[in-house]
Amino acid sequence: MSSSEWHVERRQSSNESPLSRDLENAPETGSLSIVVLGASGDLAKKKTFPALFHLYVQGFLPPNEVCIFGYARTKITDNDLRNRLRGYLVPGKDSSLEQLEEVSKFLNLIKYVSGSYDSKDGFCNLDKEISEHESLKSSAQGPSRRLFYLALPPTVYPSVCKMIKTYCMNKSDLGGWTRIVVEKPFGKDLESAEQLSTEIGELFEEPQIYRIDHYLGKELVQNMLVLRFANRLFMPQWNRDNIANVQIVFREDFGTEGRGGYFDQYGIIRDIIQNHLLQVLESVLPIKDDEVVLGQYEGYRDDDTVPDHSNTPTFASVILRVHNERWEGVPFILKAGKALNARKADIRVQFKDVPGDIFKCQKQGRNEFVIRLQPSEAMYMKLTVKKPGLEMETIQSELDLSYRQRYQGATIPEAYERLILDTIRGDQQHFVRRDELKASWEIFTPLLHRIDKGEFKSIPYKPGTRGPAEADKVLLEKAGYVQTHGYIWIPPTL
Ligand code: NDP
Ligand code: BG6
Repeated sequence: MSSSEWHVERRQSSNESPLSRDLENAPETGSLSIVVLGASGDLAKKKTFPALFHLYVQGFLPPNEVCIFGYARTKITDNDLRNRLRGYLVPGKDSSLEQLEEVSKFLNLIKYVSGSYDSKDGFCNLDKEISEHESLKSSAQGPSRRLFYLALPPTVYPSVCKMIKTYCMNKSDLGGWTRIVVEKPFGKDLESAEQLSTEIGELFEEPQIYRIDHYLGKELVQNMLVLRFANRLFMPQWNRDNIANVQIVFREDFGTEGRGGYFDQYGIIRDIIQNHLLQVLESVLPIKDDEVVLGQYEGYRDDDTVPDHSNTPTFASVILRVHNERWEGVPFILKAGKALNARKADIRVQFKDVPGDIFKCQKQGRNEFVIRLQPSEAMYMKLTVKKPGLEMETIQSELDLSYRQRYQGATIPEAYERLILDTIRGDQQHFVRRDELKASWEIFTPLLHRIDKGEFKSIPYKPGTRGPAEADKVLLEKAGYVQTHGYIWIPPTL
């Protein structure tokens, strides 16, 4: 099942608990308290607070309703936190006075509470602060809404959830809600993910839990649903009769950069592939060893937080085979790597050869439909056309929908911005459901366990390259990918 089919089904699912129906009709006014737990951390400053700021600027967080709380163990004041965040919110050196004022107004909405992740005192303090805010704001006339964003290492999720449930749940008689946003990686394998799901599931119901995979909030990922189901063009094409292979590729041109300690515990499959790249779940066959290539970039172990003999992969290429009527025989190649030659994420659907090849142009390349998530959001279709001129020659070209050119002036929201707004609105369709999570861990757990035991070795590769050469070999030999010759898509410039 594809991501889109999954999400369409999810929307249509009628088997929801009364609580989920309540939440669907949950109020969207009244005081709103947004609590960022782990406020002193990397994600909070780089993504969570900037996303909240953008929502504020666009009027989604009205100051007469909203208060934002940062919570962490670090002992700092409200102003210390505000000053730490300021640099991540100011657009640049040339910021106007108006922009700087907006940043200051936003920062004034933020309060900081210090406490540990398992202490009654800390969470009672937090509850007191939230309740004070609620009594000052509109909750006297309406319900109160509490959103807890866990920008924290997964090890503390269970205790934090327990503390929230015990000391910080919304108690308003007038109604309202409490919602929890949890970050990835949600578990390390099938067993630990299920255990975490059970522990959190005992405290909160599924409609209150928002498991974030920020790739689901990216503009072009969201467009896939519309593209696939609102265009007649794709309906007869989207199957094994026409599609030869599908590649889902994530590349970064930098290494683990200060996150080596975290990364070494997880590796590229848990960090990227199991969540961001994997939305095809059901009917996936067990992964074959000869369809996996692991790599580790040279210099990765120089990081003081990474053990000298670490085998943790920073690159992986894995072929998934889907055993169903639509996709039998079409390899899905998932590839992700750190410290590669480019920063880019795209989905590449390669079509089969044209039978007959009457223009003798088959060698130039196949039709490919490419969805470029980043950078330079675009969708383009590689086509063979007649080369302009008197001769009947063929050339590779493209139908190109480049967002920057086609939607000039339109702002593409950051993934986190959109997903936090979805959480406030109670819309779970772009979050990871428990059964979806389980299915994705089921696919990768056997391979991950073998890597953890050192039974599967990572091949060294040079930073700034395409990763281990073996990965391209597997792509050509096992997945039957055909490279287009003499053609590179160049994103149009304005
Ligand atoms: P950090 O390592 O920066 O941790 C966040 C905060 O948690 C820290 O400031 C610290 O706050 C507290 N903390 C750190 N380690 C521990 C520990 N062992 N026990 C208890 N508290 C601890 O993490 P990130 O901000 O990078 O990531 C947070 C979550 O978001 C993680 O689940 C991560 O996987 C996920 N994520 C991160 C991304 C990123 O780019 N950073 C991207 C996508 C997801 P204090 O000591 O003040 O309490
Ligand atoms: C995070 C990973 O989930 O996604 C990081 O933990 C990675 O390792 C990041 O760098 C990539 O996100 P984006 O949106 O910059 O492509």
